[in-house]
Amino acid sequence: MKLTGNTVFITGGGSGIGRALAEALHQRGNKIIIAGRRRAQLDEVVAANPGIDAVELDVANPASIEAVAADLIARYPTLNVLFNNAGVMLMDNAAGVMDEKTLQTHIAINLLGPIRLTSALIEHLKQQKQATLLYNTSTLAFTPLAPFAVYSATKAALHSFVMSQRFLLRDTSVKVQEIAPPWVATGLVGDANDPRAMRLDHFVEGTLAALETDAEEVLVDEALVYRNNPGPKEHAFVTELNTFMTKELAAA
Ligand SMILES: NC(=O)c1ccc[n+]([C@@H]2O[C@H](COP(=O)([O-])OP(=O)(O)OC[C@H]3O[C@@H](n4cnc5c(N)ncnc54)[C@H](OP(=O)(O)O)[C@@H]3O)[C@@H](O)[C@H]2O)c1
Repeated sequence: MKLTGNTVFITGGGSGIGRALAEALHQRGNKIIIAGRRRAQLDEVVAANPGIDAVELDVANPASIEAVAADLIARYPTLNVLFNNAGVMLMDNAAGVMDEKTLQTHIAINLLGPIRLTSALIEHLKQQKQATLLYNTSTLAFTPLAPFAVYSATKAALHSFVMSQRFLLRDTSVKVQEIAPPWVATGLVGDANDPRAMRLDHFVEGTLAALETDAEEVLVDEALVYRNNPGPKEHAFVTELNTFMTKELAAA
């Protein structure tokens, strides 16, 4: 996508990757509207970046999505980029009894949320001369991390949905791009300053460069080993990664 002159709506823009990309795109001359559940987080970003607007949104709530989408279309008629970025990552136990709340929360926020929000805005986006639907999945969509089995599965499902949608929109003004981050230092899970994670500023730099190429998949170099995994050897690689990560998590 072009990186200037857009009107961009970013879910989960109050923290982490969403905030960092919101600020970077704001500095490049885009109108940015961020969304999330926590007002204080949104207010902090707005205060630090005059010109960014914010709205409260719970992507797990269809009524909240409908109300926010109607408000956006009325207030920002030039809205042409939707960045489905909001997500949660909670531990589960795929080898035991699954906690129902963890299951429902992941599916509502990580999978149904982006699908519903896109559905609420898609006809508006089609009317724009150039529009982009941007999704934040994960490298775990391609190589699951066992203690986060449901999280990984929601991202794999979203990746699949995105491919179908891209095909169906191929002759419209709406392009579909998927960002699949590796482990990036944010507050999503664990320590936001974990030195084993990719630095957020490095991730944003690499992501903007890839976004601008119009690539269907926006991948930083650190993501490639996980993205390139699927194929006949995927089971061995999943075992290798999870054996390593189980030791790392136990040592942490
Ligand atoms: N960091 C990584 O290593 C990594 C790797 C791969 C993919 N990702 C993906 O990147 C995206 C952003 O994560 P992050 O790393 O930047 O972590 P983060 O700082 O925790 O950001 C997640 C954002 O999602 C918002 N959110 C969560 N539930 C929501 C809901 N029901 N409605 C609206 N907003 C909601 C949160 O805001 P509120 O709590 O205020 O609602 C928060 O701003 C996620 O989709 C994540 O899966 C991250």
